[in-house]
Amino acid sequence: MGADDRPLTGRFRADGAPLSLAEYERAGGYAGLRKALTTMTPEAVVAEVDRANLRGRGGAGFPAGRKWKSIPANAAATRYVIANADEMEPGAFKDRVLMEGDPHQLIEGMAIAAYAVQAQTGYIFLRYEYRQAARALATALAEAQRAGYLGDHVLGSSWSFALHLHVSAGRYICGESSALLNAMEGRRPVPRATLPRATTAGLWGAPTVVNNVETLCNVPHIITRGADWFSALGIGPPSRRGAVDGGTKLYTLSGRVNRPGWCERPMGTPLRVLIEEQGAGMRNGFALRAVQPGGASTGFLGPAHLDVPMDFDSPEQYRSRLGTGTVMVYDDRTCPIGVLHNLQHFFAQESCGWCTPCRDGLPWVEQLLLDLEAGRGRPEDLEILAQHVDALGPGQTFCALAPGAMAPLETGLTLFRDEFERHVREGRCSYLAGKA
Ligand SMILES: Cc1cc2nc3c(=O)[nH]c(=O)nc-3n(C[C@H](O)[C@H](O)[C@H](O)COP(=O)(O)O)c2cc1C
Ligand code: SF4
Repeated sequence: MGADDRPLTGRFRADGAPLSLAEYERAGGYAGLRKALTTMTPEAVVAEVDRANLRGRGGAGFPAGRKWKSIPANAAATRYVIANADEMEPGAFKDRVLMEGDPHQLIEGMAIAAYAVQAQTGYIFLRYEYRQAARALATALAEAQRAGYLGDHVLGSSWSFALHLHVSAGRYICGESSALLNAMEGRRPVPRATLPRATTAGLWGAPTVVNNVETLCNVPHIITRGADWFSALGIGPPSRRGAVDGGTKLYTLSGRVNRPGWCERPMGTPLRVLIEEQGAGMRNGFALRAVQPGGASTGFLGPAHLDVPMDFDSPEQYRSRLGTGTVMVYDDRTCPIGVLHNLQHFFAQESCGWCTPCRDGLPWVEQLLLDLEAGRGRPEDLEILAQHVDALGPGQTFCALAPGAMAPLETGLTLFRDEFERHVREGRCSYLAGKA
């Protein structure tokens, strides 16, 4: 693939340092914002992003154009645009790559989004630990301000946009978009009721667009090169809505592969290609047992599923999800019950405690898995775990943290059934004993 096919990362510097403003401009940067401001109405920008079918890269795949369209038309209203850069899901680091490599791309994407919905203020809600990204963004924000891409009368237009960096105090739940709003208002970061939506009453009650970093980074390219170009980049099958998921995807790869890391590939690239080409296959002596294709909160796929296209709809046929495109590869010499315990430990620790099934259920699940791994499990524990999958599933809790936690448990109970039963039968973990 040439740099042209990698709009998000193709112009990255080889030494990994962030692109300066001058480098970004030389590579065509801020042409999208200029085009939007000088040749397009805000409505035309929204329509182009809508036509591109840009689906949110924060995990749920909600179309960005549809979200922007739902901002009420009221010329006098205060509005906000927020980039969700919390990225605390285990294994995920795609947004860090984008912010450290090309911070102006995010700033331009946010400025275009803000122009589209006529927001006057924006915030980048950044994960606490992302110090390097914070430095890159602070420098880029100052450069963009001096050059007139931010601030009063952007590029001489009648529209002004102030963009600020907000560093999170650091909890996974702060990435949930409504908990994020509470966090920004200085409240306890628990999710808000689904209605009213943030696009109607978000930050301090004003219409607010919250989009993921990668989603926003795609926007300048859609405006510069058009919705048709963007759609043609995707290589997966048509989605349930009838159109192919367009664009590229920043996939990250970790676990027992030879070459962990990240790559930008066409949306819909098969899992096998990511593992064999990008990851250079399994490490010597290890066989593939399972993959979480979209991060810690996505269901396990097995070796039979490697040809699944990594777009939004395809993994769902196998009770999994694209999620954030965080591919985690597990081998046959690591205890899968231990893996599940490790995941549930994270989710139990990060539960915000707002609703009972999640607050009380996750620690119980974690304890059952710890006992099962250590050989203290009982046959009935498998049924109790399965009951939790239902009790903490979609619709039972205020937010998607608990259902997300249950996704690997549900698929793990099926995929690793033999391993669960062996642990109970033998009363020990043969992996811990080194005799798997
Ligand atoms: C527990 C939890 C954590 C989340 N963390 C993030 C995150 O770090 N970054 C992100 O973009 N979305 C995160 N999300 C999803 C957001 O709620 C929201 O869907 C997303 O920011 C919308 O952006 P998009 O439409 O561009 O994907 C999280 C959701 C949940 C339930
Ligand atoms: S599901 Fe968990 S994280 Fe989400 S609101 Fe309920 S207690 Fe909080």
